[in-house]
Amino acid sequence: MIDLRSDTVTQPTDEMRHAMALADVGDDVYGEDPTINYLEELSADRMGKEAGLFIPSGTMGNLIAFLTHCQRGEEAIMGDQAHTFYYEVGGVSALGGIMVHTVPNQADGTIRISDLKNAIRMEDVHFPTTRLIALENTHNRCGGVVLEPEFIQQVVKISQDNDLFVHMDGARIFNAAIKLGLPVQNLVDGVDSITFCLSKGLGAPVGSVLCGTQDFIHRARRIRKQLGGGMRQAGILAAAGIVALETMVDRLEEDHQRAFLLADKLRDIPHLHVRENSPQTNMVFIDLDDCDTRTNIQVIEELKIMGVLIGTSKNRGFRLVTHYGISDDDIVKVSEIFMKIMSN
Ligand SMILES: Cc1ncc(COP(=O)(O)O)c(C=O)c1O
Repeated sequence: MIDLRSDTVTQPTDEMRHAMALADVGDDVYGEDPTINYLEELSADRMGKEAGLFIPSGTMGNLIAFLTHCQRGEEAIMGDQAHTFYYEVGGVSALGGIMVHTVPNQADGTIRISDLKNAIRMEDVHFPTTRLIALENTHNRCGGVVLEPEFIQQVVKISQDNDLFVHMDGARIFNAAIKLGLPVQNLVDGVDSITFCLSKGLGAPVGSVLCGTQDFIHRARRIRKQLGGGMRQAGILAAAGIVALETMVDRLEEDHQRAFLLADKLRDIPHLHVRENSPQTNMVFIDLDDCDTRTNIQVIEELKIMGVLIGTSKNRGFRLVTHYGISDDDIVKVSEIFMKIMSN
């Protein structure tokens, strides 16, 4: 099977498995797992923040960040295409009592500054208190697109002017940094908290890291425990995360190049349209045209029979994600199989 559904399907590398087998471990709830402690320090250092916290998943990382920044009844502003709004089971509302206030995401993953300013509540006895603005980089539903530092700085400035916090869902922040050719710190400068994932393009089997100030992480650690996310000898998992950070970041460029190669090949196939501005990083979004009467689900089933797995996107669309389990040969094979299916 050639699996382009997501970069979450990546298998741990041999180096990761080796590091996992040999990891020094201890009880992390007591702060005694040296491998986790090292991963947290390394992550904070990479992000230019004071401290880090190892978390089982990106979803839990975002949830803990929201619960740490906001009290019940307070409001968080985010784009209407945000992963946290769409795909995190409403956790911030269900578990944190936090109101989600969405504003339109633009096609490039940004939010209009005027929309953001208008969404911030003024002091009024009737209104919830606005506490947080959340951004996402790269932006998944907008097409794996990259937020530029200039936009992020504008949002940071608004948050500072209004006494708000900014959280970055940086599940794929390293893809953004590689795409822009910038140190990752430049993308989280002034941002109060960031979650990034080890288990996507970086290939680790499990885990994300939440970074912020010492005080923020101290409070976040308590909330992780409250949610049942305190882990014990999880250095076995953190060991793979360390290998991910040390060996898998620079090679993300290869995934981006393969996404471009794939898009170029798919452009030549009847009834398929690669979306404008796609790809930017490791995600290719395409649509079926109206001349083809099949649904996207039917096409996905036909591809599956031929050994290719891909994901759906809105309307009659598809999402194809490159990662280190995908070779140049796989890209050629996928385009040939698509050609066969679409010519039927
Ligand atoms: C942008 C973004 N944020 C958060 C997550 C959640 O990560 P996890 O699957 O580790 O919970 C994902 C997962 O795909 C994502 O794409």
